[in-house]
Amino acid sequence: MKPDGYALVTGASRGLGMAYARELAERRYNLVLVARHAEPLQTFAEELRRSHPVSVIAIEADLSSPGAGRSLAEQLLRNGIAVELLVNNAGFGLRGEFRRLSLSRQLEMLCLNNQAVVELTYGLLPALLERKQKGIINISSTAGFQPIPFASAYAATKAFLTTFSLALEQELHAAGVTVVTVCPGRISKKETPDSPQPAQKKWGAIYQSPEDVVRDTFRVLAKGGGLVVPGALNKFSIFAQRLIPRKVVPRLVAKMSKA
Ligand SMILES: NC(=O)c1ccc[n+]([C@@H]2O[C@H](COP(=O)([O-])OP(=O)(O)OC[C@H]3O[C@@H](n4cnc5c(N)ncnc54)[C@H](OP(=O)(O)O)[C@@H]3O)[C@@H](O)[C@H]2O)c1
Repeated sequence: MKPDGYALVTGASRGLGMAYARELAERRYNLVLVARHAEPLQTFAEELRRSHPVSVIAIEADLSSPGAGRSLAEQLLRNGIAVELLVNNAGFGLRGEFRRLSLSRQLEMLCLNNQAVVELTYGLLPALLERKQKGIINISSTAGFQPIPFASAYAATKAFLTTFSLALEQELHAAGVTVVTVCPGRISKKETPDSPQPAQKKWGAIYQSPEDVVRDTFRVLAKGGGLVVPGALNKFSIFAQRLIPRKVVPRLVAKMSKA
C-alpha cells in the first residue's frame, strides 16, 4: 500500500541520507528532504520527482544551532505536512584533540547530532502519533559504544543518541511507533578522480555501502524496531569489547585513534 504521509530525511543531499531517500521513494513515500546547500538538494529532489510518483519537498535548513530542529518541526506542522517516518540522519564527526578543536564547531556538532534530533522528535511526535503507520530511524554510530580519545565529543554525541533512541523505542512501543537505532561503522563513499578513497581500498572489509546500511535498517523496521549494527566485524568488535575491562578500552582506542 502506498503511504500517504511523508518521510522526513535530514541530511538527504548526499551519503547515507541520500540512500535512505532513494529507498523511501522506491517504497512510494512522499518525501521531505533537508540539508543546508540548495543546489545539490534541489537537483536530487528533482531527480526523485522525475523517477518516482511521489511528492518531494526540499527544505534548506541548518540544524546546527539551538532551536533549528524546533523551527523545522513548526514549519512542517504549519504547512500541514504529515510526517509518519522521521529519519534523523544529518550529523558529522570532528576528529582531533578536544582542546585544539574549535569550541564553536564542537557545539555545532552537539547541536546537530543531538539537540536537533531531540527537538525534531519532540516537535513532530504529537502529529506522528496520529498516523496509522509511524516510525523513527535515528542514525547513530559504532562510535557511541565506547569513549574515543581524539574524537571525544563526537563519540559522546553518538553515545547520547544511541541511549536516547533505544530508550525511546521502549517508551513509544505501546503507542505503535517503531524506532530503529542504526549504528554503522565506516560507510564507503563513491570514489571519483577528485575524491580518491585509499583507506577504503586498504581496509575494504570494514566498510559498508550506504545501500547495505539502508537494507539492514528496513529489515529491522519491518520487524518492529531495534538496534542495527551493520556488518559482521562491527558486531564482533562491539561484542569483544564487553569482555575487556572498561578502564582499558579508552587506552586501547586512544592508540588506534591517534595512529
Ligand atoms: N560516513 C560514515 O562513515 C559514518 C559512520 C557512522 C555513522 N555515520 C553517521 O551517518 C550520518 C550520515 O553520515 P554521512 O557520512 O552520510 O554524511 P555526509 O555524506 O557528510 O552527508 C551529510 C548530509 O547532512 C547534511 N548536513 C550537514 N550538516 C548539516 C546541518 N548543519 N544542517 C542540515 N543538514 C546538514 C549535508 O548537506 P549540506 O552539507 O548541504 O548541509 C548532507 O546532506 C551521520 O549522522 C553520521 O554521523 C556516518
